[in-house]
Amino acid sequence: MTATTSIDYQVFMTDGSSAVSVKGAQADPDTACQFLEKGGVIFFPETPFKFSESDKAFLLSQKQKDADYHKNIAYRPKEDRVTGFGAQTNEEAEELRRIMADFHSQTTRFLQNFLAPYARHWKIDYASFRPIEEKGRKMRLRARNDLLHVDSFPTRPIYGDRILRTFININPTDDRIWNTSETFEKLLETFQGSVKVPGNLDKVAPSGTSPLKSMAKMLGLKANGSSPYDSWMLHFHNFLKENSEFQETCRKDNWQFPPNSSWIVFTDMVSHAVLSGQYALEQTIIVDKQDLVLPEKAPINILKRMYNRV
Ligand code: SIN
Ligand code: FE
Repeated sequence: MTATTSIDYQVFMTDGSSAVSVKGAQADPDTACQFLEKGGVIFFPETPFKFSESDKAFLLSQKQKDADYHKNIAYRPKEDRVTGFGAQTNEEAEELRRIMADFHSQTTRFLQNFLAPYARHWKIDYASFRPIEEKGRKMRLRARNDLLHVDSFPTRPIYGDRILRTFININPTDDRIWNTSETFEKLLETFQGSVKVPGNLDKVAPSGTSPLKSMAKMLGLKANGSSPYDSWMLHFHNFLKENSEFQETCRKDNWQFPPNSSWIVFTDMVSHAVLSGQYALEQTIIVDKQDLVLPEKAPINILKRMYNRV
């Protein structure tokens, strides 16, 4: 018997077509992966992740430390450690770690079944808690999340692997509101002539420190993506945020994620912006390109095709 995803869900299509309802008992994990890789947002009106009322209340009471430096509160699963929080006591810090670790293990356990093909080689990245109201949030232009963009990984290269994000809105009363626009594939068709051609996309930077990297380190800067793919994606992310004509005139879909709902999306494929919302949890997973169900939809392969680097 083929495994099913067992949970009902909806898929918000980001190409302007209407949402699709999927009966989990009839759909297998491959179907869910295909929807995501085509640029769909998988939506659960009621989140599959459970928290006690007291854990939720605790999260809602947490403040972020140094909001200019830390974009969110982060949980690093490998180190089992939380950064960027403003908890006052050791007990509070430990409580936050416990709740974030629980969220991290709930999401990974769920995705192991729901998106089983990805679990073969995935890398579990940070989870985050986003306690700041996004509406009117003051950020540097390139860090602003209310401008449409595709995600790139500015500090750690991913060499063409994929950025998969799972969210839950834990706000007791307010929706989290997103706009999405065209997928990476469409955007690249539109802007092909305006962004510079990437170098050899498969090339992996040699290990060790290049003069440029040690200089960046000396100056206290974070090294940018160290593969041509990562540098290009970061460049494209910045290009979209800085392009006011695109921001104003592009086609947009507006999505409301109500309290206690969850959604999953490849944020390197779906261009997105968060317009308002406070208190969301998020888990990032890096999906290995060898596990993709539709590899031709991966940004690295789209880039290779567009620039005839096959
Ligand atoms: C983003 O990835 O741009 C932010 C999404 C969110 O926090 O809702
Ligand atoms: Fe983003």
